Amino acid sequence: MKRCIAVLAGIAVVLFGIAAAAGTLHGNPPVPTDNPMMRDKVELGRRLFYDADLSVNGTMSCATCHEQKHGFADGNRAHPGALDDPGRRNVPGLANVAWFPRLTWADPRQTSLEAQIAVPVFGEHPIEMGMKDHEAEIARRLERDPCYVEMFRRAFPGDRGMIDYLHVAKAIAAFERTLVSRDSPYDRFVRGNVDAMTPLARQGLQIFQRDCASCHAGPDLTDAAYHRIAPENVPPSTDAGLAEVSGDRSDTGKFRTPSLRNLGVTAPYLHDGSATTISDAIQAHAAFAAIRTSDVDTLGAFMETLTDQSFLAEPGLALPNQACGRPL
Ligand code: HEC
Ligand code: HEC
Repeated sequence: MKRCIAVLAGIAVVLFGIAAAAGTLHGNPPVPTDNPMMRDKVELGRRLFYDADLSVNGTMSCATCHEQKHGFADGNRAHPGALDDPGRRNVPGLANVAWFPRLTWADPRQTSLEAQIAVPVFGEHPIEMGMKDHEAEIARRLERDPCYVEMFRRAFPGDRGMIDYLHVAKAIAAFERTLVSRDSPYDRFVRGNVDAMTPLARQGLQIFQRDCASCHAGPDLTDAAYHRIAPENVPPSTDAGLAEVSGDRSDTGKFRTPSLRNLGVTAPYLHDGSATTISDAIQAHAAFAAIRTSDVDTLGAFMETLTDQSFLAEPGLALPNQACGRPL
């Protein structure tokens, strides 16, 4: 009996520690005052997220690279753009992006979902959707569809349903704020359901808190800060990471700590997709290159609990099959 109480007390202490460290109090994400959340806007944004008309040759939507079944990442090392330019970096998942203060692997200027959308749509390094110099074409294509006209009118009544890139970006950003993933076994464990994680996974969590949570911190397992995990002596790669933006050589090879949510379905890993498995990704951290295999396995059991099956299957986030009361 005494032992049982001690074990229970131990679990309570661990749970309390996690709840405090992981910040179960994530609350609502910040929403810009000029783009309030509205159901009709989210529905429009969802349709646009899946619409290949946002790419130059009609072949590529946001969802081509950000697939729900992969936690809105994809299964490739990197994904080529609409014109077959090779991708430079691994596609990150989009779970809980609404809470991220800095977006993308290594560009601290990307602080808003609305603004980040210009990178895939208009960006040239690499070309993704290829719409640079074709901004007006986006409006022309969407205006041809009477259902879009109706959806923009409902989503932006104050702007009389204005169809242009700015409103496209606002609607997509509103949809992205609904990509909320907080029902993994780990979340349920943090909310007090001890059985949601196996004893091995709980042991993994303890190692994780000791060795990993300084960077993979908080409810989304990222401190949103930039670190170099590669050994100092590796030859310089073509991707200098943060240094490309900051111009500071000491930032070479630094990348934003990725969120580990839905890790079970977001392989391959790291900014260049060079790690095929979770253990490869762990061993790519110079600090853990010599980590014990048994610890990797134990950590792996914990990391499997970060995958949220309900998020991967949530119909409200999937390709819509209806709009304006009609099948699409
Ligand atoms: C060709 C593939 C591709 C397409 C198409 C694409 N993305 Fe991405 N997305 C990426 C890659 C690669 C990154 C990481 C880029 C980097 O860090 O340099 C990324 C990063 C992001 C991020 C930042 C996530 C984070 O963790 O900070 C968001 C948000 C995002 N994309 C949304 C979108 C939206 C919205 C669209 C459609 C308008 C879109 N993407 C289209 C490949 C793509
Ligand atoms: C010093 C900060 C730091 C610590 C400590 C740290 N990480 Fe990381 N981790 C990062 C960064 C930064 C990346 C991305 C590096 C890159 O892409 O080149 C990363 C990437 C990863 C990835 C790949 C995720 C993905 O989606 O690509 C996994 C898995 C991971 N870390 C697990 C761990 C584990 C497990 C530990 C503890 C044993 C740990 N990390 C400790 C900063 C850290």
